[in-house]
Amino acid sequence: MDISSFNDIGAVVEADRAHVWHHLSQHKQYETVDPRVIVEGKGLRVWDATGRETLDAVSGGVWTVNVGYGRESIANAVRDQLLKMNYFAGSAGSIPGAMFSQMLTEKMPGLTRVYYSNSGSEANEKAYKMVRQIAHRQHGGKKWKILYRERDYHGTTIACLASGGQEERKAMYGPFPDGFIPVPHCLEYRSQWGQVDDYGLRAANAIEEVILREGADSVGAIILEPVTAGGGVITPPEGYWPRVQEICKKYDLLLIIDEVVCGVGRTGKWFGYQQFGIQPDIVTMAKGVASGYAAISCTVTTEAVFDMFKDNASDPMGYFRDISTFGGCTAGPAAALENMRIIEDEGLLDNTTAMGERLMGNLRGLMEKHAAIGEVRGKGLFVGAELVADRSSREPLGEAQVAAVVGAVMKRGVQIGMTNRSVPGFNNTLCLSPALMVTADQIDQMSDAIDGALTEVCG
Ligand SMILES: Cc1ncc(COP(=O)(O)O)c(C=O)c1O
Repeated sequence: MDISSFNDIGAVVEADRAHVWHHLSQHKQYETVDPRVIVEGKGLRVWDATGRETLDAVSGGVWTVNVGYGRESIANAVRDQLLKMNYFAGSAGSIPGAMFSQMLTEKMPGLTRVYYSNSGSEANEKAYKMVRQIAHRQHGGKKWKILYRERDYHGTTIACLASGGQEERKAMYGPFPDGFIPVPHCLEYRSQWGQVDDYGLRAANAIEEVILREGADSVGAIILEPVTAGGGVITPPEGYWPRVQEICKKYDLLLIIDEVVCGVGRTGKWFGYQQFGIQPDIVTMAKGVASGYAAISCTVTTEAVFDMFKDNASDPMGYFRDISTFGGCTAGPAAALENMRIIEDEGLLDNTTAMGERLMGNLRGLMEKHAAIGEVRGKGLFVGAELVADRSSREPLGEAQVAAVVGAVMKRGVQIGMTNRSVPGFNNTLCLSPALMVTADQIDQMSDAIDGALTEVCG
């Protein structure tokens, strides 16, 4: 069947309703309304099965399609590669795998090795397995605990959920594996210590307190998002990152940075951690690596981490005994190479910085008119607006009302997102993350739609 020219849309919608189990969705609704089926995309625009056109301000819903829809050069690169060599297990190399690892690590000074798999969750699982194996081989079984931060998310598998700081994602999926320990979040707007001058330092010092409580010889690593995504778009405050780096050095912790959302341009630099001048030991990435044109994720390490898995070649258990079948697909790195070339040649990092400032400026401008906007946060084209019922008490706006705002924005032809099944009582942040080649007019269209929607829903 030639799917690309299949146009019996009624049959598609019925097949979807009858057989597809949608992600993060309550299906009862589809007894009375049609499931949404997206059929086409071009640039930042998508069309659904009813023919309705929407300006996509969230890059495929979840911060993914960084270079926009309909990129012929990526499709061609993938097609050519698939015909030449589509797959071989990752114990062997491939042309695009080798070339992308080189291109990628050139953008990540201090990091040298790329381990391929195919989802953000899987990339983080690899990092956890590395930490655990290092604990066994280098620390006599100690240093096996991994710290994670409240409000952060690292994926959907059981171990990733164990290291997830969003209780609504975790609820009812336990029991979880041992050894994943939470540290306090760093959202100053919701400060745990009242109003303090040095919130960033305070929040980082709270990590040290957890390490001392657990025992430094039991803690091997900490995983952090550079800018927290689904937990509320949280840009860590001044002073936070340098202190985190110091603490990692002091207690010999591996610093794992989860770049699944921030990675490959989203914040205006290649990687989010590069905004803060820190040097991680392990970096994971997925969504923007190939902009969703093919599934690919990477766990990138320093040579020092890599060396720990080849220091005793006679030990049959000493190397990283991990495999990801589809980590051997060549479509991922073929798409990723072209994706990175596009970002470079079209100057999309600079555009991201400029358009991100415009978007945040527009939204901050709306604060004068709309008391419902409590705070606007973000970095580059990774932006959140936390909505409140009362600006002085900071009481969060109810989830149903926030969803009504998203619906009213959609009525105006723009798709935005909101924090969703994350922190109980705090699913109240609007999320925007348009493709990196967004124009000033499109940015204004997004903020105008939010302006109209807030007037409609909140008065
Ligand atoms: C920061 C972060 N890490 C990891 C993941 C998991 O990625 P995946 O859904 O590809 O497994 C996500 C997904 O949203 C994420 O936002």
